[in-house]
Amino acid sequence: MNNFDSIDDTKAFSEQQSFIVTKEYRRFAEFCDACLREQYIGLCYGSPGVGKTLSARYYTKWFFLETRLQPHLPYAPLLPELKDCDKLFYTAPVSSPPRLIRENIRSLRVELGRFNLEFSVPGQQDVPAYAVADHCKLIIVDETERLSLTAIDQLREIYDRGGLGLIFIGMPGLEKKLSRYPQLYSRIGFAHNYRALSREEMRFLLSHYWEQFGLSLDPNDYTDDEAVATISRITNGNFRLLNRLFRQIQRVMKVNELNCITAEVVEAARECLVIGTV
Ligand SMILES: Nc1ncnc2c1ncn2[C@@H]1O[C@H](COP(=O)(O)OP(=O)(O)OP(=O)(O)O)[C@@H](O)[C@H]1O
Ligand SMILES: [Mg+2]
Repeated sequence: MNNFDSIDDTKAFSEQQSFIVTKEYRRFAEFCDACLREQYIGLCYGSPGVGKTLSARYYTKWFFLETRLQPHLPYAPLLPELKDCDKLFYTAPVSSPPRLIRENIRSLRVELGRFNLEFSVPGQQDVPAYAVADHCKLIIVDETERLSLTAIDQLREIYDRGGLGLIFIGMPGLEKKLSRYPQLYSRIGFAHNYRALSREEMRFLLSHYWEQFGLSLDPNDYTDDEAVATISRITNGNFRLLNRLFRQIQRVMKVNELNCITAEVVEAARECLVIGTV
């Protein structure tokens, strides 16, 4: 693709469409709204694979923004649903000096401002950084465990300058790690535990997975009920595991020319997975 082409949003649209708005996502979005509204620091923690990153990307519309908020990328069309974007999603780098983190965030904020300006006054991409209004109301930082104390302090300083909320996402235990930094900890307004899918919701979701196989899930059918119970037991409501398991189920069904998901098929699919502790 050269610089004269425009960005292809096909992948972003398909990522957005495959996102399932779950009850946990709604709780997460309410938590983010509250941090934004009250300009608090929020802490979100949950086991690997429950959907923290994907939820934050969906909430910030990052599927579309990430390709638009970097300088030197081809022109991206303005989508109506991206009007008034005021949130940033930032993945903490594996190792990066705090100065660079500050620079990255500053540049993202300028690009977000430019992007919003382009909406209101088309043709305004080349406005100098100092003249771009700051639209950023919330920064969500993912993979917080990777950050050093100085990097966390750097983010606190950005927050202290005011005008925005800040959310740290990480694994369970993040609250304990951050409690060692009293200056930051005293500023935390909300903590949110991102939970795995409940059994009831899982049952509801599985009917969609069944549909993807051209099947219909019948709660009164013993075979279906047994398969659902097996999937619930294996995945324990973990989204990543659920998706990986279904990819294997698909493979097992194809190889064996089956047209029904049974507990045996699920167990056979499980055998092919390396399941860590989740
Ligand atoms: N709401 C959702 N709709 C559809 N698929 C989802 C959803 N949430 C999570 N997934 C699936 O689960 C996978 C893991 O999600 P995600 O990467 O967001 O987890 P995480 O909690 O950030 O994990 P980690 O702690 O390892 O970073 C995704 O790649 C996706 O396949
Ligand atoms: Mg993640």
